[in-house]
Formats: sequence, structure tokens, C-alpha cells
Amino acid sequence: MTDFGISAATSIVVLTGAGISQESGLDTFRDAGGIWARYDIDDVATPEGFARNPPLVHDFYNEQRREAAVAVPNAAHLALTNLEAAWPGRFLLVTQNIDGLHEKAGSKALLHMHGELDRFLCEACGKRGPWQGDMTTASACPLCGRAGTLRPDIVWFGEMPYFMPEIYRALGEADLFLSIGTSGTVYPAADFVRAARQAGAVTVELNLEASRRGHGLFAHEIEGKAGDIVPAFVRDLLEGRLPS
Ligand code: APR
Repeated sequence: MTDFGISAATSIVVLTGAGISQESGLDTFRDAGGIWARYDIDDVATPEGFARNPPLVHDFYNEQRREAAVAVPNAAHLALTNLEAAWPGRFLLVTQNIDGLHEKAGSKALLHMHGELDRFLCEACGKRGPWQGDMTTASACPLCGRAGTLRPDIVWFGEMPYFMPEIYRALGEADLFLSIGTSGTVYPAADFVRAARQAGAVTVELNLEASRRGHGLFAHEIEGKAGDIVPAFVRDLLEGRLPS
């Protein structure tokens, strides 16, 4: 282990993906039997797919919304909440996930770069806001009242993720970058480790398996289930130690 200075001057940026929610019972996308083994991305995760068949897309996200509503944060989500609360310096959690498990775990400095299941976007008035329960083509916008104009407030392929300026600003000032439970296959999130390295940050991947084994992108690769390795990592970090 090497020492890692805990100080108000030390900034942490964390990126999470579907793997952190897997032990809470939510499917990942690209593991065997994952979501993209059962659905075609073009049909359910693109603006074109929504334009072609809105009911299919609503059903897809309604099912995920129902599953996420009853899912419980696991030890990895809670460990990140503990880290945020205990860290004297700047802390930012960026998630690719659209479930609300980081919120349920108590995370505060949290950005959903791919949007959220529990929010709507109205294509008529352009506004977005909280949404609970199923959404259908008959659902009316809570703000402008029009029906048939709502979509899930989720960033689809080909669309620009949210909060990119804030995220890259934080990466540019990061001293430690953690990537947890993501396959590193979707940009721009897959580029974050490069931006963090460029800023001189220590980069650590915590994942079931090294996502880009041998590419040397991460200074440290810790393999295992997030519910096991993230709490252990946070404990060491809060004692001032990083894996060597
Ligand atoms: N603990 C840690 N890591 C895990 C666990 C676990 N229990 N289970 C799975 N993983 C790892 C897998 O090894 C894989 O590397 O989590 C990663 C999940 O990868 P993906 O399924 O590709 O999910 P993600 O990286 O979040 O996808 C990114 O792609 O489809 C889009 O918008 C969608 O946000 C998503 C983005």
C-alpha cells in the first residue's frame, strides 16, 4: 500500500456503471444475459427507435423503473456515501446509471450523465421533472398538460450526455479517479480515465474484471464484486492508504 494524503486539497471523482447495481438485483447491459442480449439498442435506446415505436420504448423503461423502484442500495453504494461524507476535499460522483440507488444510499454530490428513470422530458414544452410510475403515450406533461409528448428523461445513443462541462472540469482537477462497475465501452464516459490521468490523478478501476486489461489505462485494477471491493477500498483510503 502507498500513502495517499487525505486533505482538503485532495479531490476525488468517481464514475459508476451498471456493475455497481448488479448486487442490488438490477441487470447490467453487456454481461451474459444482460439487457442488450435481450433488447436491440436501436429499438429502445435511440431517438429513432422511440419515434418508430413509442409504446415499446415506454414498456422497456417502465419495466426498468418498476425494478429500480424496489431495488435496495448495496454495500458499494453505501461505501461511496460514507466516502463522500468523510472526505475533507472535493468529491464528485458521476453515474452512468439511470436507477436511483445512489440517491437511496444518501449520495449528494451526484450527477446522472445518462439521465434518470424517475424523470420525464416533455417534447412539447421542452421541460423536464420528476416522474413516478409507468409512462405511456397517453401520459400528460405535468407542466404543460399536453398528452402524448412525454419521453423518459434518459440520454439515448447519439444524444449528448448531461453535465459534461462540470464533469470535465472536475476531472481536470482530480487527484484520485475511481471507475466502478463499468465496461468502459461507451463514450464519453470511457474517456474519463484519460482526462483524469492527464490531470495527474491516481486512477483506480474497481470492477468484476479489468475492463481494458493490458491497456494500462488505470494505475491500479482491483477485481471483484463491488459490494466486497468498494467498502474495503474506501476503508483503506480513509486510513490514508492506496493499493501500491
Ligand atoms: N461488481 C463489480 N462489477 C461488476 C459486477 C459486480 N457485482 N457485475 C458486473 N460488473 C461489471 C462487468 O464486468 C462490466 O464490466 O460491470 C460492468 C458493466 O458493464 P455494462 O453492462 O457495459 O454497463 P455500463 O458500463 O454501465 O454501460 C455503460 O452503456 O448501454 C449504455 O447507457 C448505457 O449507461 C450504460 C452505458
